[in-house]
Amino acid sequence: MEKKEKKYMSDIHLEDYAEQYEGLQATVENAIFMGNRATESLNGDWNYAVDQYDTCVRQKWFNERYVDEQGFTVPIDYSFDEWPVMKLPASWNTVAPEYKLYDGSMVFTRRFKYENHDNKKVFLRIGAVNYLCRVFLNKTYIGMHRGGSTPVFFDVTDYLKEDNRIIIQADSTRRPEQVPTENTDWFNYGGVYRDIELVMVPEIFIKDFRISLVPGSDFKKIKATVTLSEQTDTVARLIINELSIDNEFSIRDGIGEIIIDSAPILWSPENPKLYDVTVSCLNDSVSDRVGFREISVKGREILLNGKSIFLRGISCHEESVANGKCLTHEERIENIKLAKELGCNFMRAAHYPHHEDMARLADEMGILLWEEIPVYWAVRFEREKTYQDAENQLKEVIFRDFNRASVIIWSVGNENADTDERLLFMSKLSKCAHETDGTRPVSAACLVDGEKNMIADRLAEHLDIIGINEYCGWYTPDFSRLPELMENSDPDKPVIITEFGADAMKGCHGDITDKGTEECQADVYEKQIDALRNIEYVKGMTPWILYDFRCPRRTSVIQKYYNRKGLLSEDKTYKKPAFYILRKFYMEKAE
Ligand code: GCU
Repeated sequence: MEKKEKKYMSDIHLEDYAEQYEGLQATVENAIFMGNRATESLNGDWNYAVDQYDTCVRQKWFNERYVDEQGFTVPIDYSFDEWPVMKLPASWNTVAPEYKLYDGSMVFTRRFKYENHDNKKVFLRIGAVNYLCRVFLNKTYIGMHRGGSTPVFFDVTDYLKEDNRIIIQADSTRRPEQVPTENTDWFNYGGVYRDIELVMVPEIFIKDFRISLVPGSDFKKIKATVTLSEQTDTVARLIINELSIDNEFSIRDGIGEIIIDSAPILWSPENPKLYDVTVSCLNDSVSDRVGFREISVKGREILLNGKSIFLRGISCHEESVANGKCLTHEERIENIKLAKELGCNFMRAAHYPHHEDMARLADEMGILLWEEIPVYWAVRFEREKTYQDAENQLKEVIFRDFNRASVIIWSVGNENADTDERLLFMSKLSKCAHETDGTRPVSAACLVDGEKNMIADRLAEHLDIIGINEYCGWYTPDFSRLPELMENSDPDKPVIITEFGADAMKGCHGDITDKGTEECQADVYEKQIDALRNIEYVKGMTPWILYDFRCPRRTSVIQKYYNRKGLLSEDKTYKKPAFYILRKFYMEKAE
């Protein structure tokens, strides 16, 4: 029988409706150095609809087709300007009770005016959309981005008019092939949850600007690298007034670097000294506030500015009761203050890139950061597109935070089973991190070999620092396994205990064997610290976790959809006894 011509209405039959929106994927190649550039904010009131079946994309609402070819009005299933309003950025799960558990697509739209004040190029920058976004401007598909915690840039120069309509489809659906997968131990907040803005740049602009101490230069050389948007030959100018630096250097084929003899005051948590830096080239000029420090590994030591350091840390998710993943500036300041009150000089920003504001605050307030991409648990390690997604997220966070002195470690993942596919996938990520940034050590939070009770993860040889998650006293109730683990292991590089801990519901009391009580958690901390404090190769720890956080997997009577391993309650109003136990150890360590 001859094949019937496909004469059906596509949007109710076409299964691979999204195929045509796989193109124009924004990646790190689209990224622009922001350096205090002039921007026009698109934050504020956006009309929105919950779009559970992706009808916006299936029916192409962005075409705004109100009449047919004969001029007859056609029925439509949307009312952009009459939809309800949501203030963006936001995690939609905290905006209304009915969205508390919503996973899926929402469509956001607004009108805005744009006057071209002699700007040559204009980019749309969205700080982050979890997980996938598609953008349409004035009835045109602009592009899409994968990755729920890194910035996305689109060149909108040719699509802007005086009066504009923009549509953003945000899809938080969890999928096994994504990074992270559909199964994690934290709540999957959805939304356009970081700033939305237009970035105006000249025809040829500074696409990337990196500056740091030259590793191994005895803290006496500064290297600055400029990459332009075009492969042009020209001259750039670097100014750091406080260091009496005002140097020109040549740019060849769009790239130039300069190495200058200079001995800046070194940045450290104790003395977070920052310098105002400006770099200009042709008609572009950007600035940054930068700390100069060197982080390195030597044998089993972690060296900050050449001195061995113990990383007194704590792990931290990006979440608050009121705002979900869309933390306010003040909430981030509060988290860092709490970590410092705990005696920390270090925080593990788990398990995904936190807002760029976190590293900027850490630079200003003086605390070191571990930043991580969400290669978490059972990622599809055999799938090439999954690798590309993970690698792009890694490159995007390195691009974004390269100049942040506080960021000392890039982590390529967390708690992944030691399989051949995973070894290939994550050793490639580690290689990519080293190639993208030669100034920082690379790590990952690895699992212990349960059978041998030792550190034996094959990924360790590709890392500069080994992160180890171990839950002796909790998931591994027999505490004697911790001293044995330490005894059995003989790593040739520093180890950070990236997780230990125990659940404790605020106000829940009993004896130390009662799981879920404050006494049990305190006892786990006492015993962990006793077992770890004298292990020569343990050069830091980031116990799990600063405060309780939402977690769909945790349904027991004390958890109620929260992971209760926090040292504080989820609203951060209550410090559990274990907070003071860790603090005591850190205060002693600080001396
Ligand atoms: C794991 C994981 C965390 C999780 C924690 C726990 O190690 O890395 O994301 O929340 O353990 O079980 O509480």
